[in-house]
Amino acid sequence: MAQTVLVVDFGGQYNQLIARRVREANVYCELISFEQIEQKIAETKPIGLVFTGGPASFNEPGAPRIPAEVLSMGIPVLGICYGCQLIAGTLGGAVGNGPREYGRRKLKVEKKRSKLFDGVKPESDCWMSHTIYIEKLPTGFVTTATTETCPVAAMENEKSKLYGVQFHPEVIHTEEGFKILKNFLYGVCGATGEWTMSGYVERTVSELKAKVGDKKILCALSGGVDSAVAATLIHKACPNLTCIFVDHGLLRKGEAEEVVRVFRDEQGMNLVAVDASERFLKKLEGVTEPERKRKIIGEEFIRVFEQEAKKIGAVDYLVQGTIYPDVIESGLNHSAKIKSHHNVGGLPDVVDFKELIEPLRLLFKDEVRRLGFELGLPEQIVMRQPFPGPGLAIRIIGDITKEKLDILRDADYIFRDEIAKAGLDREIWQYFAALTNIRTVGVMGDERTYDYTVILRAVTSVDGMTADWARIPFDVLQNISDRIVNEVKHVNRVAYDITSKPPATIELE
Ligand code: XMP
Repeated sequence: MAQTVLVVDFGGQYNQLIARRVREANVYCELISFEQIEQKIAETKPIGLVFTGGPASFNEPGAPRIPAEVLSMGIPVLGICYGCQLIAGTLGGAVGNGPREYGRRKLKVEKKRSKLFDGVKPESDCWMSHTIYIEKLPTGFVTTATTETCPVAAMENEKSKLYGVQFHPEVIHTEEGFKILKNFLYGVCGATGEWTMSGYVERTVSELKAKVGDKKILCALSGGVDSAVAATLIHKACPNLTCIFVDHGLLRKGEAEEVVRVFRDEQGMNLVAVDASERFLKKLEGVTEPERKRKIIGEEFIRVFEQEAKKIGAVDYLVQGTIYPDVIESGLNHSAKIKSHHNVGGLPDVVDFKELIEPLRLLFKDEVRRLGFELGLPEQIVMRQPFPGPGLAIRIIGDITKEKLDILRDADYIFRDEIAKAGLDREIWQYFAALTNIRTVGVMGDERTYDYTVILRAVTSVDGMTADWARIPFDVLQNISDRIVNEVKHVNRVAYDITSKPPATIELE
């Protein structure tokens, strides 16, 4: 088993970020709930533990706690914010309220020879977000860093390999944060940096060869990055893979053709491409309600897939492009449902298979992308922005027709083209055009027009859970608007959406 670090979640907003940073340092880690700590230690034999921050206060009844024995097992621990207070409180120190300390602060390293601060500047910016302070250190601990307001910004007991920081080393505003994290992983835990994407490919390919060999495998290819990378990885190891690509006619301009070209022609995969666009359009005729659109598309997708899968017959394995945040999500969080997301979750019910394989279930999205490049997939696929399963159907407000789909595809293509030309495509998290059902009066030449309004939506985000509208320069917006009204028939108005999420959502439906 690869060297493992357990990132123990106490409900902190940066929990996934901490895990990603550990992985970026080439160390494999898993994010677990504090309630699983003993079981996971026994299972994974971790080389270190990182305790995340969290909203609770250690002294409150019901605040998350851990058994004190965990801190005397000889496993190195780094506690961050709440995690630091937890170490102090559990080992007989004291924590209590103090002044609010939010945002950037000057961190002063107090101990000259701390492994955690090895090579770290004596003074640097760090990011704070707390009102609870360490008032008394537990026996055996010393203070290793301070800020003007925080007398214990970091503490340690070197002999017991227990470290705590009140600031957040995982956020980029903490200047020396990544170095501090790496010092913990390499200097304290003894990590050897074996978690790399080329290593992952090598290991997974040999595991797949041994486990799956030439047994029959089926994969639903959507054109999205997860299923693309999963299929390509399996294709490298197993000769008997068939991919089914259902074109529901709701993709963006050129996308269906691209899937066939890349996977069949370039990668040499056995690809069944089904043009089901007429069928979907018929089912969607006259439907205007967003949730009904989503439901119809989800169900129809499964029906088409089922028909194609029947032609292939029973298979040994069905591939799912599950990635690590989905695994974490189902284990840690319970959030309210705003929209019924379409993915290939319903497929296991209709395919005759023996086992699921999920070759990406350990990976974060950025790792999936790095893996895609490692496997030689083109940039357009690997860096593809998120695209909803129901496709353009939820970007056309009101009923869907072939004519509206064509208008939207053309407008969206121009938007993407201009954003790429302006060099903004990596900066903006997601950007697309949507077609409203509003028609307004305009004038072109000397003619009156009565045509549609296109909405441009562009957001910056980390994970799509919250988003801000992207500040696209006015002259870029001007070019886009000019081109759309000139080049796309039946559009005479272009609007830019300047709402964040919340209160809006990213997609319009
Ligand atoms: P919302 O509109 O909920 O979107 O703010 C958040 C992110 O999720 C994407 N999205 C979907 N992805 N199936 C998907 O796979 C869906 O049904 C779906 N609906 C929205 C959306 O594009 C954005 O990135």
